[in-house]
Amino acid sequence: THTQVGIIGAGPAGLLLAQLLHLQGIDSVVLENRSRERVESRQRAGLLEQTTVDLLRQAGASARLDQLGLVHEGVLLNYNGKRHRIALKELTGGSCVTIYSQTEIVKDLINTRLAAGGMLLFEAEATKLEGLDTDRPTIHYTHEGESHTLTCDFVAGCDGFHGISRASVPPELLTIYDKTYPYCWLGIIARVPPSTHELIYAYHENGFALHSMRSPELSRLYVQCALTDTLEDWPDERIWNELKIRLGTPGWTLQEGPILEKSITPMRSFVSEPMQFDRLYLAGDAAHIVPPTGGKGLNMAVSDTKNLFEALWLWYKEQNTRLLEGYTAACSRRVWRVQDFSNYMTELLHKQPDKAAFDQQLQKSKFDLLTNSEAASRVIAENYVGLASKRAS
Ligand code: FAD
Ligand code: DHB
Repeated sequence: THTQVGIIGAGPAGLLLAQLLHLQGIDSVVLENRSRERVESRQRAGLLEQTTVDLLRQAGASARLDQLGLVHEGVLLNYNGKRHRIALKELTGGSCVTIYSQTEIVKDLINTRLAAGGMLLFEAEATKLEGLDTDRPTIHYTHEGESHTLTCDFVAGCDGFHGISRASVPPELLTIYDKTYPYCWLGIIARVPPSTHELIYAYHENGFALHSMRSPELSRLYVQCALTDTLEDWPDERIWNELKIRLGTPGWTLQEGPILEKSITPMRSFVSEPMQFDRLYLAGDAAHIVPPTGGKGLNMAVSDTKNLFEALWLWYKEQNTRLLEGYTAACSRRVWRVQDFSNYMTELLHKQPDKAAFDQQLQKSKFDLLTNSEAASRVIAENYVGLASKRAS
């Protein structure tokens, strides 16, 4: 088979790219190695910047998001039981964030693609890329036990951190920037109405905790745990107990409910540059990872996708290569801003077992600055809602 754009991966990046291209009359095939059920049920992000919401609207995949998304005008930061609100809307001249689960975004995009007659193959694993330096690159893949090939004009590598796209670039052409953190997040979904209207990020001597939500009925909560911890170390009672201690402030109570799901996520910062190699273009987690504090991973994947879509569109419209050539540069500025913000939020809010008492005092002083300086809070607010949305408005 031949298509214009061969897309590897049906995460938010790959699915959104396929739909945006389709709306401009550009065909694509999406290859996804997991099953539809698996892709639709992977619990991950939930915090959307306004530009992400806008792009999902542009893609025609926002009917449920517009109905069910929870708009937040502020966010709460705790330091050892003391609370500080960052008034996002006020401090940014009107920007907000929206809570809507990545599982639902993926379902909405899959339904939109299939309704438009899009070619989307599940349990189709891309195994090898060939001819990237020609104008007919080939993707080799396996589907239902058989080997197949897909030729295309361009390959979009939207296959996440462990995919084959980045691994297909000769390593000597890539510069890798990498940092790991000596702790993980244990995340749960609980069937209980959120105990807060706005998200709470908490620093506590026992470690970080985050109270987020998925809907008026479902809470999403996270606690910092040790690198060596497994789910067996965290029976439900211990999770609730730590959440109560870490999120606690006078006069506030955490409601408990049945835990529907538990998982542990390692934390890392990673950038691979450039994001393009001949006819291969990487977008999203295939090119970079951030630690989850601040909720930027999904938003950055969507922002890359917008740049890649616009570059391909210009090429198909006018055979103009300007935006394709400038793709890495167009993404990179935001990639590094988000890397800095995610690293800052992570190191501000976690108990850092590897850091000396001196650095822990700096953490405390940074929090003190936030509570006493509107300018410092505004910097957090602008980054949190997404700097791109500010520039555009
Ligand atoms: P992905 O969503 O990873 O999609 C890539 C797709 O490619 C996958 O479906 C994969 O199955 C497929 N694939 C891989 N290899 C192949 C192949 N060879 N052939 C075909 N298909 C292939 N971000 C936040 O903001 N907040 C969070 O709380 C948060 N939690 C997270 C928890 C976990 C466990 C993980 C892994 C990520 C989390 N993130 C979070 C990050 C966020 O979910 C990602 O940044 C986002 O999913 C990136 O989208 P993507 O489309 O680039 O990649
Ligand atoms: C969520 C995750 C985050 O990392 C974050 O900063 C905010 C919200 C979430 O899963 O809801």
